[in-house]
Amino acid sequence: MRLTIIGTGYVGLVTGACFAEVGHRVICVDNDAAKVKVLQEGGIPIYEPGLEEMVKQNVEAGRLSFTTSTAEGVEKSEVIFIAVPTPPLADGAVDLSFIEKVARDIASAMTSYKIVVDKSTVPVKTGDNVAETIKRYNKAHVDFDVVSNPEFLREGFAVEDLMHPDRVVIGVRSQRPVAAMKEVYAPFNAPIIVTDINSAELIKHASNSFLALKISYINAISVVCEATGANVQEVANGMGMDERIGRRFLDASLGFGGSCFPKDLSAFIKIAEQVGCQFGLLKEVQQINSRQMDRFLKKISDTLWVLKDKTIGVLGLAFKQNTDDVRMSPAIELCQRLQKEGVRLRVHDPKAIEKARAVLQDVTFVEDMDAVAEGCDALVVATEWEQFKKLDLERARKALTHPILFDGRNLFDPAEMERMGFIYKSIGR
Ligand code: UGA
Repeated sequence: MRLTIIGTGYVGLVTGACFAEVGHRVICVDNDAAKVKVLQEGGIPIYEPGLEEMVKQNVEAGRLSFTTSTAEGVEKSEVIFIAVPTPPLADGAVDLSFIEKVARDIASAMTSYKIVVDKSTVPVKTGDNVAETIKRYNKAHVDFDVVSNPEFLREGFAVEDLMHPDRVVIGVRSQRPVAAMKEVYAPFNAPIIVTDINSAELIKHASNSFLALKISYINAISVVCEATGANVQEVANGMGMDERIGRRFLDASLGFGGSCFPKDLSAFIKIAEQVGCQFGLLKEVQQINSRQMDRFLKKISDTLWVLKDKTIGVLGLAFKQNTDDVRMSPAIELCQRLQKEGVRLRVHDPKAIEKARAVLQDVTFVEDMDAVAEGCDALVVATEWEQFKKLDLERARKALTHPILFDGRNLFDPAEMERMGFIYKSIGR
């Protein structure tokens, strides 16, 4: 099929590449000419495992192309996906101006029947507004359908998630676009659920809020574990064996971050408020998350006493492993809060150093993770990169003025760390 994706951010680019990979002919549109040029020349603007090769192969095979022209994308495809940012506004609501602009652009360019599919995360009822906007701005008065098709990929595992989705949600107002949407997703062999548009839009916010709730739940349990001498990992393992609960997303941490959970929680609370529902449960999820960072910082200051003029090594800057994304990263918040206390920082991340340079000033970026501890008073693990588990602990122990390690991701075994001579403080253990 011929498909157009408008917006080449994480969702748009990975979706475009995966659609091309299964045989569709895909045009990716972005209004950022510099980004389109990079993509046309075989580069990619983000780090995502497996993506670069996939983009390259599909461009070479002639199935994937990039343009700045929305009109070209609209003309050449019958199914047009919108995958533009929906950033938060100051009050927690969602900025839908990019969606609205793209809806107008599509409308102006439409001269025949189109299926306009929203993939961006949007508040419930956005589909109605998109449909109304297209109707108003389409001078040719052609038929069209609006579809909601939320995306559930995780950064760092985006290609894998998109190629093997748990489910595909298709929200429609009529049956007309269903066959075409099923054809788009047929090669992925995933269960498809067809709903009304409002339900599809809600599935996305309800899912992300539930996952965030799961993390805050285990983080709240971690506090009780610390107070009682229990081990949060043992508790999570025991809970997770109940199939109704499941082990995934029960890893206690210094808090969740990223461009999705914090934003989507605020948006969902706001959406509920606007329809007269107080979602106190989700407000508590947010509060547990911010308290988790406060508690972690307190652990550091309680142990080091005075923070001013201390040097701390930080392992991890991305908001999670396998990505170079530092947006709303707990690791970056941690660094900035330590700096406010007068701490000097030596920091490392396997992929996010370049992006972190734009948000962190006056820190020493260290390319080799094993060299971070040199001259430091303590070491902190802030991101759950798998390779940190292979840290040369013996070298770190000798390099630190005193062998203190704060682990915000529970990567190491407390008994083993103690045996090696570390003062080791992790989460809920
Ligand atoms: C999240 C959802 O998992 C995706 O399904 C969704 O499509 C995406 O948001 C989105 O809306 O676009 P993402 O933000 O990429 O994906 O990353 P996650 O793997 O969900 O991690 C989010 C945060 O939670 C990270 O900071 C991570 O370190 C933290 N986390 C995750 C924990 O602290 N503990 C866990 O057990 C799991």
